[in-house]
Amino acid sequence: MAMWFPIFVSGAMSVVSYLITETIIFKQKLKEMFIKANLFGIDLNKKGKEKVPEAIGVVSGCIYLITLFLFIPVPFGRLIMENSTFPHDEFVEMVAALLSICCMLLLGFADDVLDLRWRHKLLLPTIASLPLLMVYYVNFNSTSVIIPKPLRPWVGFSVNLGIFYYVYMGMLAVFCTNAINILAGINGLEVGQSIIIALSIAVFNMCELNGDLWKAHQFSLYFILPYIGTSLALLKYNWYPSRIFVGDTFCYFSGMTFAVVGILGHFSKTMLLFFLPQIINFLYSVPQLFHMVHCPRHRIPRYCKETDKLVCSVTVFKKTDLNFLGNFILRLFKFFKLIDLKENVGEGGLYMECNNLTLINFILLWIGPTHEKKLSQILLIVQAFCSVVAFTIRYPLAWLFYNV
Ligand code: UD1
Ligand code: MG
Repeated sequence: MAMWFPIFVSGAMSVVSYLITETIIFKQKLKEMFIKANLFGIDLNKKGKEKVPEAIGVVSGCIYLITLFLFIPVPFGRLIMENSTFPHDEFVEMVAALLSICCMLLLGFADDVLDLRWRHKLLLPTIASLPLLMVYYVNFNSTSVIIPKPLRPWVGFSVNLGIFYYVYMGMLAVFCTNAINILAGINGLEVGQSIIIALSIAVFNMCELNGDLWKAHQFSLYFILPYIGTSLALLKYNWYPSRIFVGDTFCYFSGMTFAVVGILGHFSKTMLLFFLPQIINFLYSVPQLFHMVHCPRHRIPRYCKETDKLVCSVTVFKKTDLNFLGNFILRLFKFFKLIDLKENVGEGGLYMECNNLTLINFILLWIGPTHEKKLSQILLIVQAFCSVVAFTIRYPLAWLFYNV
C-alpha cells in the first residue's frame, strides 16, 4: 500500500495536469501572444501559409514542473511528520533531476527563440546533465556493468567503466534530446513518438515494481506519469492538422526527462531499446549530420499540392563536393537499396540527387506518396512495434544472456 499511494496521487495529479495544459493551450489569447512574440512557424506541408504558434512545449513543460513541485511532499511528507530518518539521498535525487529538466527546458526555449547552431545543440544537454551526474556520483557512483554470459569467460562477470560511465551518461542526454528532434517535421510525430516511449517506460516500471529495485522504478513513475499527462494535451493540438508546434523546447525537455529516469532508475540500456526508431533514424542520418552529404535546413518530406500527399524530399549536390567517405557510404546504402540515388543530374551531369536521409523519407521511398496524417500514424505504429520488440529483447533474451 505504501508503495502504491504516491503512484496513485501522481496519476491523479497527471490527469489534472492534462486538463490544465489543455485549457491553457486552447486559449486563443495564448496563440496570439506567441505569434506576437515572433514565436511561430509555417506549416510547410499545407497549402495555406498560416502562422502556427511554435515552442508550445514550454507551456506543457512549465505545467509539468509545477505538478512535480507540488508532488514533492507526497512521498516525503509522511516521513517528515513521523520524524523518522529522512532519506536525504532520495530527496536530493529528485531535486537534482528536476533541476536538470528545468535547465533543459530553459535551454530548449532559448534555442527556439535564438535559433542556436548545431554545436550548441550538443553542448546544452551536456551542461544540463551535470547536476544529475553529480548526484549520481554522490549517491551511487556505481560504474560497473554486468557482462552478458557468452562474454564472461574473456571479460569476467562485470567491468568497471569508471569515468567512461559518466561520459556514457552525458552522451545519453545529448542523444535522447537530439534524436527526437531529428525525427520530426510532420504533424504529431514529435509528441506522438515521445508519448509512446513514455508509455513504454511506464509499463516497464510497473512490471518492475515487484522486483528488488522497486524504489527506482517508483521514482521513475513519479516523473513519467505527469509527463504523459501534459504531453497528451499537446498531442491533441499538434495532431494533424496542427494548430500548434511543440518546438525544440519540447524535444529537449522530453529527451532530458527520459535520460533522467533512465539514469536514476538504473535502466538506461532498456530505455535505449525504446529508442530503436530514433537510433535507426540517427544512423541513417549520419552522412548528412556530419556533412559528408549536403544537408539542407529542412529534411522533411515534400508536399504535393495537387494530390495533398507527401513525397520523398531530395538533396542535390555537386559530385565534386562529395568526399571519399560520403561517396563510399552512399554507394553502400545504394547497394542495399536504402536510398534513391540519381547520378549525373543537372547541367552537364555534374550533380547528384539523393533522398534526404531520414526514416520518414525512407518509409515514403517504400510505400510511395502518402497523406501526412497516415504517414504520422504509420511512424507511430513503427514506434509502438519497436517497443514490443524492446520488451521481447528485455525479458526473454536478457534472461538468456544474463540469467537474471
Ligand atoms: C529538425 C531537422 C530538420 C527538420 C525539422 C522539422 C535535422 C538535422 N533537422 O531541425 O531536417 O526539417 O527538424 O521539425 O534532421 N514543421 C512543419 N510541420 C511540423 C513540424 C514542423 O512544417 O509538423 C516546420 C515548421 O516550419 C516549424 C519548423 O518545422 O517552424 C520547426 O523546425 P525546427 O524544430 O526549428 O528544426 P530543427 O529542429 O532545427
Ligand atoms: Mg526541431
